[in-house]
Order: sequence, then C-alpha cells, then structure tokens
Amino acid sequence: MLVSIELVGGGRLFSTLAVVTAMLVAVTLFLVWQHYYRDLSPRRGVTTGKGAGEVRPASLRELLSSLSLEEKASLVVGWGRSRRLPGSAGETRPVRVPSIVTADGPSGIRIEPQQDRWWYATSFPVPTMLAATWNPELVERVGRAMGEEAREYGVDVFLAPGVNIHRHPLCGRNFEYFSEDPLLSGVIGAAYVKGVQSAGVGATPKHFAANEQEVNRVIVDTIVSERALREIYLKPFEIIVKEAKPWAIMGAYNKLYGKYCVQNEWLLTRVLREEWGFEGLVMTDWGAGDNPVEMIKAGTDLIMPGSDEIVARLVEAVRRGELKEEELDRAAAKVLELVEKSLTYRGYRYSNQPDLEAHARLAYEAAAEGVVLLKNDGGALPLKEGARLAVFGTGQIETIKGGMGSGHTHPKHVVTILDGLRERGFRVDEDLSALYANYVREKRGEEFLKRFYHCEAYPEPLPQDIVSEELASKFAERNDAALIIVTRISGEGWDRRPVEGDFYLSSSERRLIEMVSRLFRARGKKVIVILNVCGPVEVVSWRDLVDAILLVWLPGQEAGRVVADTLLGRINPSGKLPTTFPKDWKDVPVAKSPECYPGLPPENPQKVVYCEGIFVGYRYYDTFGVEPAYEFGYGLSYTKFEYRNLTVVMDGDVVKVAFEIVNVGGYPGKEVAQVYVRAPEGRLDKPFQELKAFKKTRLLNPGESERIELAISVRDLASFDESERVWLVERGLYEVRVGSSSRDIRLVGHFTIDSEVKFKP
Ligand code: BGC
Repeated sequence: MLVSIELVGGGRLFSTLAVVTAMLVAVTLFLVWQHYYRDLSPRRGVTTGKGAGEVRPASLRELLSSLSLEEKASLVVGWGRSRRLPGSAGETRPVRVPSIVTADGPSGIRIEPQQDRWWYATSFPVPTMLAATWNPELVERVGRAMGEEAREYGVDVFLAPGVNIHRHPLCGRNFEYFSEDPLLSGVIGAAYVKGVQSAGVGATPKHFAANEQEVNRVIVDTIVSERALREIYLKPFEIIVKEAKPWAIMGAYNKLYGKYCVQNEWLLTRVLREEWGFEGLVMTDWGAGDNPVEMIKAGTDLIMPGSDEIVARLVEAVRRGELKEEELDRAAAKVLELVEKSLTYRGYRYSNQPDLEAHARLAYEAAAEGVVLLKNDGGALPLKEGARLAVFGTGQIETIKGGMGSGHTHPKHVVTILDGLRERGFRVDEDLSALYANYVREKRGEEFLKRFYHCEAYPEPLPQDIVSEELASKFAERNDAALIIVTRISGEGWDRRPVEGDFYLSSSERRLIEMVSRLFRARGKKVIVILNVCGPVEVVSWRDLVDAILLVWLPGQEAGRVVADTLLGRINPSGKLPTTFPKDWKDVPVAKSPECYPGLPPENPQKVVYCEGIFVGYRYYDTFGVEPAYEFGYGLSYTKFEYRNLTVVMDGDVVKVAFEIVNVGGYPGKEVAQVYVRAPEGRLDKPFQELKAFKKTRLLNPGESERIELAISVRDLASFDESERVWLVERGLYEVRVGSSSRDIRLVGHFTIDSEVKFKP
C-alpha cells in the first residue's frame, strides 16, 4: 500500500529504484530459499518442487566442495522427532538442502495422531506373519502400499524392514523380524524393500547386525563365530542388499566382537560396502554407539537422532586431525545422495490421503495368507455358516493387532475377533461375550478401552477363567462349538520370558481350556483355540484337549475378519511356520547355558555368546534329533496336496529342481513347496538340511495341478570355511528334499558336485 502511494503520488526516481531493488532482492532471496532451504510447512501437503528458472547442481554431490566443515558435520548428524510430521522418527538437518523425514515400521507407517487430526496408517500383519505367507509377490505389494502411505504423508525414508533372526524364540522384537531362516528372511525382506522403494520412498533394513535380543540391547556384546554370522545373521542383509538395493541400512545398537556395530569398520565397510557392493547410506539406530568420530571412520554416514554437541565434536575431531576430512566428506556425500533421491527434494506434492481403503483390503489379503492351521482333528474346521459360537477369552475384545515400541501403528480401525465373527454372520453367544466385555471394561476402564489401539504400552494380561462351570455348561448346551482366544504381545526393550503367562499358558488360561474342553467335548462339540500371539507358545501340554488350533499371529487391523473367514472356510489356511514352535523351553538351544542367553535384568548381561553356532532353529532341532511341537515350514490346509514327478538336473553352476503339485482334496487352496538340501559329510559340519528354495502355488482348485521349477545356484550351497576365509562347496552327493514342511518331505532326488568349489567372500 505504502509503495503504491509513493509511486503514484511522488513519482521520484530514487523511490522507484529503491522499490525495484528491494523487489529484486526479495525475488533473489526467495529463489535462494527455494533452492537451499526448502523445508515443508507443517502438514500442508505442499512440497517446493523445482520452480521455474530455478538453478540446481546436476548432482547434489557437487555441493560438497562448497560446504564448510560445520555444514558437513551438520549434514551427517540428524534431529530427533520430526518437526514436520508428528510421530515420525526424525529428520536430517536442512543444510543448504532440505531436511528429509524418516518414519518407523515395519507393520505399517508409524506416525501419531494429534489432538485435532488423525493421520491414520494401515496396520498390516506383523512381519513374522508376512513371512508365514511365504509369498514374496504378496509381500512386495504390501511393501508398496506402506511406501505409498509413507509417500502420501511426506515421509522420505521408511525405517523398515527388520531382518534380524529369530535366534531366541522369545526376543521381544521377533514379531518385527521374519524368520529363523536366513533364506526366507532374505527373500521376503528383498520383496518388502522392492515394494517400498517402488513407491519412491527409501527402505532401511535393520538392525545390522547380530541384534537378536532386547535385554541390554544398547550395550550387549554379541560373540558369534564368523561362520554363523555370515551364514545365518548377515545372510538376509546380503540377499536384500544384492537383490533390492535398499537406499539405507540401520546399524544396530549392540556390539559385535567388542565393537559397537555402528563403530565397526569391518562390518560397515569391509563386508557391507566392499564385499557386497552396498552403495546406500548407513545410519545409526537411535542413540547407538558411544563415539561419533569412530562411527564416521567406520562407515556410518548419518548419526541419529544426533545433537549439536555431536556436530561440534565432529568439527573438533577434523580440526585436531582425529578424523580425516575425506571421511567426513564420504558420509556427507552419502547424505546428499539420499536427499537427492528423496521425494522432498524432488518436490513431490503429498496428499495426506493415502488409499486406506485399498490398503485395508491388502492387509486382509496378507493376513489371510499368513494364517497357520496348526491342528484340525476330524475336520473340526471349517465351521458351518451361522454356527452358534461360545467365545471365551478377553482377546475377543482386546484383540492384539501388532506389537509395541517403534513397530506400533495407529490404524483408523481394528476389527476385533468378536466384531469379525458377528460381521460374518456367526451366531455369537452374546451373553457370554457380554460377560467378557463387562469384565474388560471394569478392569481397564472405559477411557482406556477407547484408546486401546493407540496405547504405547499394554497393561498386564487379565485372568481368563471368569466363567463358572455352571454357566459354562449352559453355554456348552446351547452352542455348536467353543472358541478360546489366547493372546500374547511383546515389544521393544524387553524380551518375553519362559514362564507361565508368557511362553507357557497362565494358570487361568489352562483352567479355562480344561473346563471348556471337558464340557463341550462331553456334548460332542468342538473346541477351537485361536492363537493371537507374537511368537511361539508352549502347546504340547494342552493341545490334546482341543480339536483345532489356528495361529493368527498379530494380524493387523483386519484381524476379526480374517479369523471369521478362516473359521468359515472362505479363507483356506496356506501359511507355514517361519519359525519353529518348540515342545518345551528346555529344548531351545539358547536355553542350554546362561552364556547363550545370559539372564535377564538384574543380572545385567554384558555379552551374549551365540553358542549354538550355525545350529539355529530347525538346523538345531533336525541335526540333534530334538522333536519340536510344530516344525519349521509346518501348516495344514483344508485340502490335501500331492507332490509328483521330481527331476533334479545340474545345469552348469545351477541345480534345476522341478516337480508337480496337485490339489487332491476337496477345497481350493495354495501350497508352499519347500526345497531343502542335505549336504554330504565333508570337512565342515553341516546342519541336517537347509532350506534352499521355495514357492507358493497359485490357488489350485480340487484336481488342479501346478508345475514348479526352481533353480539353486551352486554358490548358495556353500558354507563359510573360517580356516581359509572362503565360501566352500564340498564335493559329493547332495540330497534334494522336497516337501510340505521341513519334516514332511514328499520327494527326494540327488545331484553330485564333482570337485570342491571356493568363492571369495
Ligand atoms: C529402534 C529402531 C527405530 C528407531 C527410531 C530405535 O529404538 O531400535 O528400530 O527405527 O528407534 O524410532
């Protein structure tokens, strides 16, 4: 206003020049701001894409030479909680380039609802359940959907998947990890990463490496043989790096051979970059390690969440000659490369409106394929449409969708088991369910229940035997079958325990199962247990009391629909165990000595020894003749499959395995064919057998068949020979074992390796 008055009224040359100059300065400043400091206004969904006339370096790397030491140090040190997106994990700093946002997974994007608005993200089945699908194509679609949600909420880098190994069956974060087997973890993990990155968002496999327990995770020193490390714990990362090229990797909290992983040059530079050719960025886990200078030297590029003190420390280290400037440059260049790939830098206009409806359907589909039918005596399942059901257990109301900690999600809805059963037309005994509903409301409180699915910590489990024998007889009389829901949850920062109420049933759960079994079976009625659990529980002491056991893991937001449809047979279970269910805690290799899993606080273990070496999971049970409750790869179906016509042919350095699967039962279904290889005796100890390939069929109608063709490269048969530090394939006769689980082998073939083969790591 003032400007126009002066111009029109006065018309003085001086004023005009001043105004024009001011305008030019303003435009220039705006362009510079656009170019270098394009931070996004909070949650407006507007990014600042490349504007008309904007000049940018051909590659952000070119900026490096013009950055001051302080700027470079600031680039490699992040910020905690993001200023742009509530609940995200952190950001890089805007240092002449925009900051980029990271958010957690791996069961969906973890962002937080705010008072006035909810940014909902789909709660997908937990990664162990994704692995139980044994279906990489499906997992890739799930990864893409998570990537799209990240993208539409303005997240640049997704902190997932978790690819640590289920070494300790009760590790608190196992639900975030895929399997006890490195091949299954690697193949499913690579599919996940490809999916996420196909949406334009970076994925970050974590926690690199040997981070298989939560107790003292930030200081514990993992002592593991190099052979076991490479064959079991590094293998999934290696597969993912080579097949899916993740934008980033997250270094773990723990130490490896006495050095923090994020300060371990051998791990981050020799193995990850030089051996495997990783070209992305290495970031720390949040607050990992104790020496930022060592981190950069070792190959870490981004210290999260970081602090101004760390920036100052790095600057000082370069000035004092403790850290070479080239080392800082390498890390800063990696951050610039990551920024350059990011949607923020590319000016993506995010909508804040991902397609949650389509993703809910996908969450259902993924959970449907991950359900594992553990037991189904006398065809107890499927049930008839509209069957009258007596549902026992608080889990019908407090259905567990996912785990706790950074793997938590905030979905728009969760379909509880009770809601799912009602929605799908079961005649639920409402009197019985009302008893549980009132009980839960009374114990937890109305307010708590409203926020149940957004709580960061779950309260203690409730006693389950709240129904008297007399009442239960009434329910047995008037219903067709009983369902008993058993739940277990776990989370970051604590491991589960081999005690009653955790690995073992609690006494109230046991009493409930015994009573319901007695009363219903006496009347010829079936008893079905639904395991809504984060990982293995003891089953042997009670499984004979029930007719069917359905393992639905932590299935995400569509839980109730998936349970109901499986009970009805609309879903034919096709999931297989990605992790063994041991008979008893004493059978588990980590339980063998306190060194292998050194106690719980207050013992305060400083180190953990992976004493079982390569004999993890089924590699242990099979080799040492320990019978599990349900073996790796196990899972029943409502139909039956036959395996036929195996051929095994050596073709150059590939073993070609082909066979046919026929649905010989009465229901359409999918089968997971597993190929294990048993190596001849040689110089190195070998497990009894190892999974080397697998394939899930398409949906086969009764009578239909599918020909499966798989290729195993000779390289993938190798074991790591520590004496020569090479990968070694020994000569001799190898057995190819094709089956429906690791202990249900249907076809056997052979091939020969004439002379030993060695590969450099
Ligand atoms: C977890 C990581 C997570 C990070 C950021 C850490 O405590 O271990 O998995 O990505 O926090 O939230």
